[in-house]
Amino acid sequence: MSLPNFARDDMTELTLRQGTILSDEGESRTDIRIVDGKIAEVGEVSPGGETIDLDGLLVMPGVIDAHVHVREPGATHKENFRSVSEAALAGGVTSFLDMPNNNPPTTGLEALNEKRRLAAEKCLVNYGFFLGATSTNIAELNQIQNVAGIKVYLGSSTGNLLIDNLQDFARIVAETDKLLVLHAENEQLLRYFDEIKRDTAMHHEIRDNVAAAVSVAESHLLSERFNKRIHIAHLSTKEEINILRLHKTERMTCEVCPHHLFMSYQYFKEHGNLGKMNPPLREEASVEALWTGIQDGLVDIISTDHAPHTLDEKETDYWAAPCGVPGIETSLPLMLDAALGGRLSMPRLQKIMCTRPAEIFGMKGKGRVVPGYDADLCIIDREASHKILNENQRTKCSWTPFHGTELKGKVQMTIVGGRVKYREGNVVDNTPANEIRFA
Ligand code: DOR
Ligand code: ZN
Repeated sequence: MSLPNFARDDMTELTLRQGTILSDEGESRTDIRIVDGKIAEVGEVSPGGETIDLDGLLVMPGVIDAHVHVREPGATHKENFRSVSEAALAGGVTSFLDMPNNNPPTTGLEALNEKRRLAAEKCLVNYGFFLGATSTNIAELNQIQNVAGIKVYLGSSTGNLLIDNLQDFARIVAETDKLLVLHAENEQLLRYFDEIKRDTAMHHEIRDNVAAAVSVAESHLLSERFNKRIHIAHLSTKEEINILRLHKTERMTCEVCPHHLFMSYQYFKEHGNLGKMNPPLREEASVEALWTGIQDGLVDIISTDHAPHTLDEKETDYWAAPCGVPGIETSLPLMLDAALGGRLSMPRLQKIMCTRPAEIFGMKGKGRVVPGYDADLCIIDREASHKILNENQRTKCSWTPFHGTELKGKVQMTIVGGRVKYREGNVVDNTPANEIRFA
């Protein structure tokens, strides 16, 4: 006999009792009932199925990291879908978007489907993908469904995706039917500053602030001209912030990465290639401008640009070392510590790390703790504290630029699709998660 669908025998149920749930209106202590991976009720509920008593721990939507370089396929000695997703779980991240600069690059359906196959096998958190623009593939990319958007590299970085010609970029903006995510550093200016600053061997001088700002200005003008949405990746300079203050429209969104908030080029001067990434670490005035943008709402989201490379690869001379630092595991802990220290409010933290990324990329059912949404949650102990250590990192590259940093607050539990996958330092459920559905 078949059961009516409100009581199927394969139905899974989990009740989280007495967590503190954050909303724009403030905090309330109550229960959450999860049925079949979705939030069924928020409010006092009679316990059913498995019950976990949260005793006042903070409940947030799982963090959504919209900028991650998984390295699979092509460089799995740096990271793969299992290792990145374990790192994600430890950092309270329940969904991420993977960049296309792999080997081979994700510039068509075949490469995308190979990534889909690999992630479906072993990724423990939800995942979505970006396609990579070339000067000739936009018509082909327009045919592909259910991706987060198209990544355009306007300045050269890891991999061989580069659009260094404004005519090609204009054509991409004019012809795309998808959201464009821009690595905005103007390649001609990068080459010019390389010419005049090469003997400094200082990454931030060779990739001057102006190269980023000019690229943001060009991108803004083309987005307006062709009425297309753009998302500026990893803002790093006060000059970009100033341009966005004057010109940001509803067609433009932007992100900032923790390494540009918690480090300046002083770190590069002291630690060399461990502080080498694109765009580079900047001077204090830019760091301050980014924080102001986070506090006053100019900056839409925090993403990590998680870009793992091994210490062996980093420990070489400046010119040979790859660019990028890991970050998916330390992003929420760093931002949480900043929020608990009063640098931003907890509702703002939730907005820029959870709710707004879901809105920008159109992730269905994600980013809020409300009935009907996916039960992707992060449980936080605000009273606990911990120290970031290389030896505890789950990323395959096994190091972090934040080694030794002491932080207030701690991720206690990470729940993906109603399954407790991470609890008190351990990954406790190896069930693969799902590809994100985009609106
Ligand atoms: O530092 C960076 N590393 N910036 C990028 O744009 C790419 C990334 C990587 O994939 O290594
Ligand atoms: Zn990146």
